[in-house]
Amino acid sequence: MADLYVKSLDMINPFVVASSPATQGARNVLKSAKMRPGAIVLRNFGHGSGGGSYFGPDAKAVYAGGQAFHSHAVGRQIPDTVDTLEKYCEEVKTIKREMDSDIKLWVSVGHYSDILKGGAWEKDWVNQAKELKLAGADAIELHFNTPGVAVAKDRIYNYHELIRHCTSMIKNAVGDTKVMVKLAVEGTDVLTSMRIAQSAGADGVGPTARWKAFYMDLDWRRTQPRPGSGYGGTQATPLVCYAVAEGRNNGITLPMYAGGGVFSFDQAARMIMAGSDCVQLGALACSGGTMACKKLIRDLEKWMDEAGYPDMDSLRGDALQLFNMPDAFAKARQNKLGDAYQQAQVIADKCIGCGRCQDVCWHEGIELKDRKAIKTDKCIGCGYCFQVCPTEALYVDKGGILAEPFMK
Ligand SMILES: Cc1cc2nc3c(=O)[nH]c(=O)nc-3n(C[C@H](O)[C@H](O)[C@H](O)COP(=O)(O)O)c2cc1C
Ligand code: SF4
Ligand code: SF4
Repeated sequence: MADLYVKSLDMINPFVVASSPATQGARNVLKSAKMRPGAIVLRNFGHGSGGGSYFGPDAKAVYAGGQAFHSHAVGRQIPDTVDTLEKYCEEVKTIKREMDSDIKLWVSVGHYSDILKGGAWEKDWVNQAKELKLAGADAIELHFNTPGVAVAKDRIYNYHELIRHCTSMIKNAVGDTKVMVKLAVEGTDVLTSMRIAQSAGADGVGPTARWKAFYMDLDWRRTQPRPGSGYGGTQATPLVCYAVAEGRNNGITLPMYAGGGVFSFDQAARMIMAGSDCVQLGALACSGGTMACKKLIRDLEKWMDEAGYPDMDSLRGDALQLFNMPDAFAKARQNKLGDAYQQAQVIADKCIGCGRCQDVCWHEGIELKDRKAIKTDKCIGCGYCFQVCPTEALYVDKGGILAEPFMK
């Protein structure tokens, strides 16, 4: 079986159950520990608990790997019973006593609303970090990922300066304990955020997708319950992958734990192949629970075996070669697909004469004769007709051609 151990963070596997209702308080952390993730982030204290997620079009589509969105922090919020630092430290001690010792416990420090309130928040955060370290936290996590933080930057404070200031402040306070910095990919330049966190002494960065957005169904009866709240989903994953790859291509060497839209193993694999060491499980941990997450971990292991990746080192960053292909090779690869489109002829037996190919051809590359399509010499190989043919009368092996850079 593929070895999922993550050397850079000494974790049994790359999965981080991210700060959410599934990690609120010792009870839920211990429940989440049943899925045996690499790390769990104990959620902030004193800022309310509860809440849930709204899935569109529905949760089944999400788990099946289809494109879908979710909006979190809907549903009832209740006061957090852990409302003092003392109680929060007790939760940490309980978890450390009862959780499998090979699962890491990262603990959240601070909340951006502390900053908005003003007062002695810096002193509080430093004190929290020191006490939580003593209580047994394996790492401290700083949250600069929610839309509130990123969007507030222009109005209230400088987001990038906040990252620099808080990262070095907390790192100085906890010394050799790891400081993980969770970052927004929206409303701000995430590469700059990662560079700042790295230079300020962070031990890991977590670029995370969570937008302020507004989605509505046109019938107005299934509108997302809280328009404008944290909006993510499977469609976020390519954007997160890009942020990760951009970091890796521009000198970010820190361990990364990217997150956003991971509901099945393939989205996790994509983030790791883009260069992330680990992957956050947020909405899936809450709404799919430990069983769905366990399945995802097993599925990744199985796929790595089938795809020939023996360990995490071999998987991490493997897709970066797509960004780093020599220009000549990249162009040749692009043209190979074009050449294949141009050369392939219509398989007459399969053609039903529907005319869709002709409808989408803008170069007079298709003629219809006796209800059969025929390619003409005007075809330039753009490929539109191949996408619409319902019977594969027009077919090329796209996957095979594009897989070439991955062939060892
Ligand atoms: C219901 C819910 C509540 C969340 N609360 C927090 C939070 O208090 N602090 C935080 O940093 N992130 C919070 N998150 C974000 C997650 O920690 C994680 O970064 C994100 O959910 C990853 O994206 P995914 O849900 O698409 O996997 C929350 C997520 C959900 C679904
Ligand atoms: S789209 Fe396919 S089946 Fe329809 S006419 Fe063109 S080649 Fe024939
Ligand atoms: S590949 Fe493009 S140009 Fe060639 S026939 Fe199809 S649609 Fe027309």
